[in-house]
Amino acid sequence: MKSEVRVLFVCLGNICRSPTAEGVFRKVVDDAGMATCIVVDSAGTHAYHTGEAPDRRAQLAAEKRGFDLSKIMARRVVVEDFSQFDLVLAMDQDNLRLLREQCPEEYADRVRLFLEFAADHDELEVPDPYYGGSLGFERVLDLIERASSGLLKHCQLRLDHPAIK
Ligand code: 4NP
Repeated sequence: MKSEVRVLFVCLGNICRSPTAEGVFRKVVDDAGMATCIVVDSAGTHAYHTGEAPDRRAQLAAEKRGFDLSKIMARRVVVEDFSQFDLVLAMDQDNLRLLREQCPEEYADRVRLFLEFAADHDELEVPDPYYGGSLGFERVLDLIERASSGLLKHCQLRLDHPAIK
């Protein structure tokens, strides 16, 4: 039996969408009592905000729904992430393409879109909220919360059946 699944969420800046996904999914994992076997982290494809805490708007919107992002610090994706994480989940197609360009071929199947794991497949991208208003951050949370339950089920299945990708 596989003992651990490691998940990395990736957006552009690592200050809005991917730290929100990290905070939400970490709570979903904790609430399910699975914190010892599902590891959660986030990173950005660009280094503009390296070392910064998540955007205040993302933190406030998350806090209102009971998710704490305050301890997260932005970092850029490094090539070791592809060997270290079982799933490298992009928030949108642009970041998926950038990740695929960086990813060593042997790990290509680890790089996917996060919203693939949402029960409904209406949308595949979490839209960038950075230049918009507060509604964008609520939308980000709606999409992330929905996909997180699907992702938890997928991780549980992988832990039970290690052949599943
Ligand atoms: P994120 O949002 O990729 O969800 O963290 C953005 C953050 C910063 C910028 C763009 C998107 N920026 O251009 O600095």
